[in-house]
Amino acid sequence: MYRFHKNELQRRKNPKITYTARLNRRLYEPEFLLKKEWAIANIEFKLKMIDLKLSRKYGRKVMQKVEHRIKKADSIARKLMKKGCKITFENALNRLNDIIGIRVVCLYSDDVYQIAELLKREKDLSLIKEKDYIKNPKKSGYQSLHLIMDFPLVYNETTEQQRIEIQIRTVAMDFWAGVDNHICYKKNPAEIKKAEADLKTYSAVISNMDRQMLELRKKVEKM
Ligand code: GTP
Ligand code: MG
Repeated sequence: MYRFHKNELQRRKNPKITYTARLNRRLYEPEFLLKKEWAIANIEFKLKMIDLKLSRKYGRKVMQKVEHRIKKADSIARKLMKKGCKITFENALNRLNDIIGIRVVCLYSDDVYQIAELLKREKDLSLIKEKDYIKNPKKSGYQSLHLIMDFPLVYNETTEQQRIEIQIRTVAMDFWAGVDNHICYKKNPAEIKKAEADLKTYSAVISNMDRQMLELRKKVEKM
């Protein structure tokens, strides 16, 4: 009698499992990870320079925090399905902008735009898309400035375009997004209806607070 391999049975029950496992294998290849880490190091180096420039100009520490992450396989699979694409490594590379995500957190909302401006002026970074969720917050109340950028990464003897998503936000926006992420984001909408409404209210509180802090800073600067 012909016996199915255990994985084959699993795949027939839930094809997503093997697609994701295959994706996982590619995403955790040391060479792939090394290249992504190298890309991150290159961008963080640029950010360091921008931070030095702005911090010297304003006489205060401008960037409070710089974080990065490489998107995990389950999150990639979820997003590809949402886009109606097959869960493959190639689709992950070609269809998603945020396999590499870098987040910059600063004190004031005008810092966000200054950092973005300097990133856009970098000769080897090209802006693919800018999403201003500060001027136009998402329906959830989420605020941040997102820059999708490409840059040529020199790796071994080759040069390869790398796509990155840079999120720039204030400490207050980061606080909001952290709580939202914990409570609501990507969870079952039925369970979190009330929390969503509250978070939307707090998003407006956060944006008022950012405005007031900026006004306060400007007032103090004039003294
Ligand atoms: P995702 O599938 O969520 O990545 O969205 P997208 O590719 O359409 O891009 P978008 O600019 O909407 O979101 C990109 C990233 O912004 C997400 O991966 C999150 O890090 C962040 N983000 C977007 N919306 C929200 C939100 O409502 N709450 C929180 N906490 N983060 C969000
Ligand atoms: Mg994302």
